[in-house]
Amino acid sequence: MRYRDILDAIGDTPLVGMPRMSPKPGVRLWAKLEGQNPSGSVKDRIAKRMIEAAEDSGALTPDRIILEPTSGNTGISLAMVARRKGYRLTVVIPDNASSERISLLELFGAEIVYSPGEKGTNGSIEVARALARDDRYYMPFQYGNPANPLAHYEGTGAEIVRDLPEVTHFVAGLGTGGTLTGVGRRLHEHNPDVKVVAAEPELGELVYGLRSLDEGFIPPIFDESVLDRRFLVSSSDSLRATRELTEKEGIFAGISSGAVVHAARRIAQELDKGDIVCLLADGGWKYLSTEAWAPEIERAEKGVSETLWW
Ligand SMILES: Cc1ncc(COP(=O)(O)O)c(C=O)c1O
Repeated sequence: MRYRDILDAIGDTPLVGMPRMSPKPGVRLWAKLEGQNPSGSVKDRIAKRMIEAAEDSGALTPDRIILEPTSGNTGISLAMVARRKGYRLTVVIPDNASSERISLLELFGAEIVYSPGEKGTNGSIEVARALARDDRYYMPFQYGNPANPLAHYEGTGAEIVRDLPEVTHFVAGLGTGGTLTGVGRRLHEHNPDVKVVAAEPELGELVYGLRSLDEGFIPPIFDESVLDRRFLVSSSDSLRATRELTEKEGIFAGISSGAVVHAARRIAQELDKGDIVCLLADGGWKYLSTEAWAPEIERAEKGVSETLWW
């Protein structure tokens, strides 16, 4: 493939079989590898889409500063897009975000404002909303921006239909709900029988990038009617599946991907045949400092937590 520009290289990610992760031969599991996007996550899709929509509508002009609350990936993607297009960017991020995320934001030239770690992304949203009262800022706000699900409807979802028309299930993590809403709508248009499943952390458990609807905040862009099922996953099950992905399939993915694959395997156990697409939102690189892949004995010695993950 040849592209004129890095932003044209966003999307069209590979769909890769995971035969060794499936509990039954008749049920095929597929990984949509979003870590292959230029800045390393699914969020490149929505960053480009939200910025270009704001340019087209006139909401974003060269004198304004882009401002966004994010657990990391959207900030990194926005920083890449802002760099390439010449905008300034301020991100609000929980102060316990992994060091790799902060380094990536810095290298793309973003300004970082920290919010209290214990409040998670809800704390970042609060801080960003207060800053956004200043007119110099333009806030795309991924939780409420229709360009977020649209990027998945026209991109991610259409790619799955093209590459696997026989798809029976789609499983993705729930953060803003943009992936599930956009892909779910596209897949239901293709075949109303396709089941759309959200992987959510158990209440009080942390899986980076994901949120539980039971915390009380329902993102405005999230269309709950698209969901056929919610699947609650613990941090330790997510970590175990993330490690297994590397061991069995040679796929190096982030922790939310483990949550998705864990949910998909449970669903596979209930079926005789099917084609389940798992959205793997990012690669494992940004989580290396968390020791998630360290040998079990080292993790135990260092007291690496299997239950509280951030
Ligand atoms: C690592 C990771 N996985 C999954 C998600 C969830 O995606 P979405 O915001 O489209 O629900 C996000 C983003 O929030 C994320 O950063």
